[in-house]
Amino acid sequence: MEKLTEKSMRDLTLRKNSTADNSEAPASKYSLPERTALITERLHLRRAQRGDAKTLFSNYTSDVDCSHFLQRKPHSTVSQTDSMLQKFCDEAWNVSGTPFSWVIAKRETDEPIGLFLAFPDGHKTDFHYGIGKRFWGQGLASEAGKATLEALWKSPNTQRIWTFCDPENIGSKRVLEKLGLTHEGILRKWAVLPAFGPEARDCHVFGATRVKE
Ligand SMILES: CC(C)(COP(=O)(O)OP(=O)(O)OC[C@H]1O[C@@H](n2cnc3c(N)ncnc32)[C@H](O)[C@@H]1OP(=O)(O)O)[C@@H](O)C(=O)NCCC(=O)NCCS
Repeated sequence: MEKLTEKSMRDLTLRKNSTADNSEAPASKYSLPERTALITERLHLRRAQRGDAKTLFSNYTSDVDCSHFLQRKPHSTVSQTDSMLQKFCDEAWNVSGTPFSWVIAKRETDEPIGLFLAFPDGHKTDFHYGIGKRFWGQGLASEAGKATLEALWKSPNTQRIWTFCDPENIGSKRVLEKLGLTHEGILRKWAVLPAFGPEARDCHVFGATRVKE
């Protein structure tokens, strides 16, 4: 469930010269081990780049079904998506300890299709993710999650990675199981999901911990 507090976001366009892909950048420029571009068989997980907002809005952030189990409403304007990308997928990439996000893009075309957000909080990090409806059922969320979790474990402080999901979100529960997370229990009245109204909902919590070597 994406935790995006839109009211706190500035309505900015992505910086003109903002570059997304740091895969070929010198390591010294991007010193945070987990905030790096990732390549999988079919995906390119990366920083935001110019032009992403419009396509991501169309593919994912504006979609009612994609937002059904999220803590935000569907975006109604491209600028909301642009602001989110600016904050989480660009500015945060060089700032340790802040929430940040990968843009999930198709590897072949670099088309942005979803987001994978990470919220570091001391020794633990929770994550939230989603991809556009057109891309469901192809194993892409699992593929993205495997790569991003591996990257998150590279942060030396991280001892716990976790998330929660709505009991009715069968697809997400399955993805989390496939990623090797353990179903740890139920958090009562944990999240308000706008699609379900103001009443907080019980959520399933899934987690993994670093094994002490
Ligand atoms: C949940 C979501 C990320 C799943 O993405 P996806 O790319 O379709 O997932 P995958 O293809 O990797 O599927 C992984 C497994 O889940 C199963 N699955 C996915 N969606 C399912 C659904 N709606 N019902 C039942 N099973 C489902 C797949 O069959 C697969 O299982 P298998 O490998 O045993 O066959 C996607 O539906 C989505 O983005 N939803 C909107 C945002 C959201 O709800 N995010 C999660 C918030 S907690």
